[in-house]
Amino acid sequence: MSDFAELSVEGKKYQLPIVVGTEAEKALDINKLRDESGYITIDSGYKNTGATKSAITFLDGEKGILNYRGYSIEDLAAKATFLEVAYLLIYGELPTTEQYAEFEGAIRRHTIVNEGVRTIFEGFPVNSHPMATLSSLVSSLSAFYPDSYEGKDNSDRHIIRLLAKLPTIASWSYKRAMGHPMNYPKNDLDYCSNFLHMMFSLPVEKYEVDPVVASALNTLLILHADHEQNCSTSTVRLVGSSQANLYSSISAGISALWGPLHGGANQEVIEMLEAIKADGGDVSKYIDMAKNAKTTGFRLFGFGHRVYKNFDPRAKIIKKAADEVLAKLGVNDPVLEIAKGLEEAALNDEYFVARKLYPNVDFYSGIIYRALGIPTNMFTVMFAIGRLPGWIAQWKEMRAAKEPIGRPRQIYTGATLREFVPIENR
Ligand code: SDX
Repeated sequence: MSDFAELSVEGKKYQLPIVVGTEAEKALDINKLRDESGYITIDSGYKNTGATKSAITFLDGEKGILNYRGYSIEDLAAKATFLEVAYLLIYGELPTTEQYAEFEGAIRRHTIVNEGVRTIFEGFPVNSHPMATLSSLVSSLSAFYPDSYEGKDNSDRHIIRLLAKLPTIASWSYKRAMGHPMNYPKNDLDYCSNFLHMMFSLPVEKYEVDPVVASALNTLLILHADHEQNCSTSTVRLVGSSQANLYSSISAGISALWGPLHGGANQEVIEMLEAIKADGGDVSKYIDMAKNAKTTGFRLFGFGHRVYKNFDPRAKIIKKAADEVLAKLGVNDPVLEIAKGLEEAALNDEYFVARKLYPNVDFYSGIIYRALGIPTNMFTVMFAIGRLPGWIAQWKEMRAAKEPIGRPRQIYTGATLREFVPIENR
């Protein structure tokens, strides 16, 4: 295959270098296109546009493949701990025993959050959405750690702080909404057990972490850990490309994730399934509403994906885990059966088949979160805790590559030059 593609426009020919990745993905490099031809490209939603080269995560949307640094999501979800996967994403290799002990140990020692951050948190309305408080408080960390923007590149310390403190901050929302005293982390617990302790233990009785729940949480966090250049990760990279500090960049990613078309979908899915259940459980009615979205405005949350035009491999793992976890916990959630019925109906409907719409990571995750006792409005917070190492890894890669500030072009379609008209003459 030639190393160049040829573009012919207005009688001139331009050579566009061809870039081929390690998984045989191909791209046309248009870095010089405007300088040479005066043309830019335009691609609403970046459906055909690569923002960068990355060695972190590989997706094959047609085959339903997801690999982190070359390891399959199936392998990692079955065999690794979340912090092993976090280390892998951020530093490129699975940690040795010593590396893991140092990494995990450092995280354990940074789980306490400055009491000043808690004071800020207590200024929020009691029933604030946890994503509103999470994005705000993560951004506030840059005020508590000014060396994060004073040009001292000690991002590893900030990486540890973020991984360590996000679960602590997340648990505050639940405890405050419940009117319960907030818990401090316990350094003798592993990452997932510590989060469950902070969420659910009460000073009035001994709290034992259920290993089934901790294991399910570990799997869910791994499945959410990275997903190449999705909306929130692209946001983190773009904000970081201006040399903004890590806390500000991650806070921007949390805000992008909150959108119902992105990470906010996991909350929307459960609310949608609850609405179907309350409406008698007739999934065909909702399939029809989704097919007539232009008039009904209804969308089947948890379905469809920009990249996956086959099953989202994470959805397959979560669906299997949902059956196992609910059975082990003795939870009978009718919403699970409605979800399966909806999936079955959609996968046999021409509208969805023609558009290659399959269940995505958000379709079943909320059913497990609910069985673990996580409230619905914290589902996207759980997504953020899982995605944090991916955001950090991508931010670190962008900085290490010294990528230029992200600044897309546009095609102007507004009014051409015109004279100012004084207000008395308008
Ligand atoms: C995540 O990018 C990532 O990797 C994201 C993520 C990650 O890990 O970071 O995987 C996490 O965000 C998963 C997606 C969660 N969102 C949802 O479940 C919301 C519902 N899904 C859709 O809104 C939609 O599928 C998107 C946003 C996920 C993808 O949108 P696209 O790629 O822009 O596709 P589109 O909106 O152009 O849809 C193509 C067609 C349209 O029909 P036509 O106009 O061609 O007739 O499919 C239809 C859409 O109307 N369609 C749906 C649908 N999703 C797309 N119809 C009904 N229900 C849906 N869910």
